[in-house]
Amino acid sequence: MALQDCNIVLGVSGGIAAYKSADLCRQLKKNGAKVRVVMTQGACAFIQPLTFQALSGEPVSTALLDEDAEAGMGHIELAKWADLILIAPASANCIARIANGFADDLLTTLVLATEAQIAIAPAMNQVMWANPITQKNLQNLIESYEQRLQIVGPASGEQACGDVGFGRMMEPSDIVAAISQESTPRECKYRVVITAGPTREAIDPVRYISNHSSGKMGYALAEAFHAVGADVCLISGPVNLSCSSGIERIDVTSAEQMYEQAMRQARTGLDVFIGSAAVADYRPIDVSEQKMKKTDFGDNIQVELTQNPDIIANVSAMREISQSLIVGFAAETNDVIQYAKSKLKRKSLDVVIANDVSNQEIGFNSDNNEVTLVTVDGEELLPLTSKASLAQELVTRLSEKLNQKRKSK
Ligand code: C5P
Repeated sequence: MALQDCNIVLGVSGGIAAYKSADLCRQLKKNGAKVRVVMTQGACAFIQPLTFQALSGEPVSTALLDEDAEAGMGHIELAKWADLILIAPASANCIARIANGFADDLLTTLVLATEAQIAIAPAMNQVMWANPITQKNLQNLIESYEQRLQIVGPASGEQACGDVGFGRMMEPSDIVAAISQESTPRECKYRVVITAGPTREAIDPVRYISNHSSGKMGYALAEAFHAVGADVCLISGPVNLSCSSGIERIDVTSAEQMYEQAMRQARTGLDVFIGSAAVADYRPIDVSEQKMKKTDFGDNIQVELTQNPDIIANVSAMREISQSLIVGFAAETNDVIQYAKSKLKRKSLDVVIANDVSNQEIGFNSDNNEVTLVTVDGEELLPLTSKASLAQELVTRLSEKLNQKRKSK
């Protein structure tokens, strides 16, 4: 949606992220939108209406039955005026109320009364976000508003309460970028299987070989596909992340276990397979049943390794999924594009998402990423942004590529 001259009702509900909505309001104005702010009672406990009045240059509405406000632009007029109702932050309570058709305050009434696009940027504690009730409410919203609804985020990271996980409101610039995208699919009915995180290859019962993968990119992709209604299966190595309850999560430890699960998923059919896991290339040939003792070895020790199966190459070789889009990652420290191209060919992939992990800003544990999409048709840089925002962009790009592939067959 082009923001220039776009009429946006910015709904602010009660959450600590409400302070970020002041900046969001400013950024929407800067992009040429006309903004009218509607605050819930809860939001007023976190931030003053006067702040939004100064930033939007318009009176702020806080109540449904306010004579003065109704004499200006009444709630039905406001619902008709809007091209977009953007709720940021959308608290768990706010989502529950709009998902159930409540109309007991101005914001919920506007949502019920409008025919405009609706975008919500959830913000809540990670346990509240993962709660099946919240996820059911979101599903209800997706089914009810279909193409009219866009869910922006949430992002993962440290929360105001000290928890770490999904539930943080997306940054204002990411929200602006997401609602400006013309072709974000609002609904996608694909089955998407994603591998994420590292694998651990046991040496003995207490030691293993692994890597620094945090799983953040794969989890962000799983959430982004889930938010547009895809049926998502996440095959996850050991990571410190939680995901929405609507995502089917299969926990594995080793590359062989990840391989078994991926092949099982591929056999039952899928539309998109994304290998974002940093799979260990080798595993010890012999795993000691007991903890190995230093005293049993000299100064040096040799652990013989054997190659693990290449999961994505085996998936892409399956006849059952010749209509599916197979997407790999190439995390490299040098000659990134060159290696990505050779992976594309060698593993018969449709897309390789290449990134430079030697750059600390976009490396393994970072919340941000900058990638290049490599296909047989060429390369395209997706510039530095949060992993959550990038994941939403990738949902759009990969959906387009799947459609192209199916049309050309
Ligand atoms: O060969 P390399 O590890 O660099 O390739 C990276 C891509 O291949 C990633 O998409 C990764 O998930 C996938 N991969 C895999 N199984 C392996 C090794 C890598 O699926 N054993």
